[in-house]
Amino acid sequence: MAEYDVVIIGAGPGGYNAAIRAGQLGLKVACVESRATLGGTCLNVGCMPSKALLHASEFYEIAQKDFAGLGIDAKVALNLPNMMKQKADSVAQLTKGVEFLFKKNKVDWLKGKGRIAGPGKVAVTGADGAEVVHDAKAIVIATGSEPAPLPGVVVDNKRIVDSTGALSLPEVPKKLIVIGAGVIGLELGSVWRRLGAEVTVVEYLDRITPGLDEETAKTLQRSLTKQGVVFKLGAKVTGATASAKGVELTFEPVAGGAAETLSADYVLLAIGRRPYTEGLGLESVGITPDKRGFLDTDHGRTSAAGVWAIGDVTHGPMLAHKAEDEGVAVIELIAGRAGHVNYGIIPSVIYTFPEVAVVGKTEEELKAAGVAYKVGKFPFTANSRAKINHEAEGFVKVLADAKTDRVLGVHMIGPDVSEMIGEYCVAMEFAAASEDVARTCHPHPTRSEALRQAAMGVEGWTMQA
Ligand code: FAD
Ligand code: NAI
Repeated sequence: MAEYDVVIIGAGPGGYNAAIRAGQLGLKVACVESRATLGGTCLNVGCMPSKALLHASEFYEIAQKDFAGLGIDAKVALNLPNMMKQKADSVAQLTKGVEFLFKKNKVDWLKGKGRIAGPGKVAVTGADGAEVVHDAKAIVIATGSEPAPLPGVVVDNKRIVDSTGALSLPEVPKKLIVIGAGVIGLELGSVWRRLGAEVTVVEYLDRITPGLDEETAKTLQRSLTKQGVVFKLGAKVTGATASAKGVELTFEPVAGGAAETLSADYVLLAIGRRPYTEGLGLESVGITPDKRGFLDTDHGRTSAAGVWAIGDVTHGPMLAHKAEDEGVAVIELIAGRAGHVNYGIIPSVIYTFPEVAVVGKTEEELKAAGVAYKVGKFPFTANSRAKINHEAEGFVKVLADAKTDRVLGVHMIGPDVSEMIGEYCVAMEFAAASEDVARTCHPHPTRSEALRQAAMGVEGWTMQA
């Protein structure tokens, strides 16, 4: 008899949701985690602390810049230590919440570093250095990812920081350089700009947020530029030198030309993340990662019998909700049930101001695939709630199949669109036509009416002004 039905290595959104689902289904389950708290990258140094700072810094900026226009006179001052403390308190509550759910669902937390020690064996090395080997009928790898390095830019988490360092800077930089105009760079760049830093983003490509619908990306870039973020696109970083006081960063145009040097108090390196499998013992079960380090899977199954993999360590978007869905699906498969992830409907959000929220295909993808589609677009300037709130930036764009009217993709930019994209995820799961959304009554006045108006736009009968 194996000691466990399933042992999961890693307690991030993939691993902890898998563990809880296993407990719910009556499986004997353990989850190995080497961090002092549960929740993985997302809860400890990712989604949650970044959103806590985005929320607080947005209020700071609104209070400074927008209150007067609403007829509120207020004196506002930043208390950075308290802002960091409320972030840490929220994170602590969330990680404790996962610990509570582990207990409630009879999940054993095996504290320490996990290693696959052959088929059906997981060795765990605790803080005392002692190794204990556990038997498992199934093993789930959920070890996540780590920041990708850049030669010549050595992260010391003092002056040259990764995302973890940028979540806890000891002061507001006068100048901050961000390398990489992706999600982390734009979100954390926004936090520090709102708190007072001059932010310059240096990006290798000639656009920001690669993969995002181009029109939406351009609108976001325009908006962030208006807020004061400086973009250096098509720029190849050649090196960074840190001193006690700051950093000198050199870069040159990708297309060729003269090199430039910028100085700043801090540099944030955010050029992507890579899968993390260090010391995991993959060779003991014959698993070889691909050349970028990702584990190949088929519905969660790796090439080794009884070994599954989920989340950032596998292919696909590096998103918490993707990891979570995969975690639930593999456990349901392990338990002999139907487990499934619909990779076509994984939404993605950038929590800048304005926010970006997208799901499904981009116009560029549809064009490349030769799919005929119609576009319905509605600007927030024509939405009454957005106007009343003085937040009328952005739009909702719906892409529908020209023949069947099925919704293929939705791209939004505007305040709080993160809270609105779920409506289209549900619609798309039900294979909705744009007309289904167009004929669904929405409450007035709300920004969600823009979702309906954009759908109406597909057939050209948008009417709200
Ligand atoms: P992880 O969360 O990385 O968890 C893996 C865990 O495994 C870690 O705790 C690690 O300590 C542990 N581990 C690794 N190896 C071992 C081992 N051998 N033994 C024991 N334990 C081990 N995604 C979103 O969807 N929305 C967001 O808003 C968002 N914001 C982000 C902001 C930042 C700054 C960052 C860095 C990421 C953000 N992400 C966001 C991405 C999100 O955090 C990841 O996609 C998600 O955490 C992946 O989950 P995971 O379970 O695959 O791995
Ligand atoms: P990213 O992949 O989003 O962006 C990296 C950027 O760096 C790209 O624009 C890329 O072209 C650029 N780049 C790559 N090499 C470069 C170089 N040498 N010099 C300059 N620029 C370079 O990666 P990021 O921002 O590090 O985020 C990692 C992951 O974390 C993302 O895949 C994302 O899914 C996840 N995440 C999700 C969030 C969310 O859902 N809101 C928030 C933060 C992170």
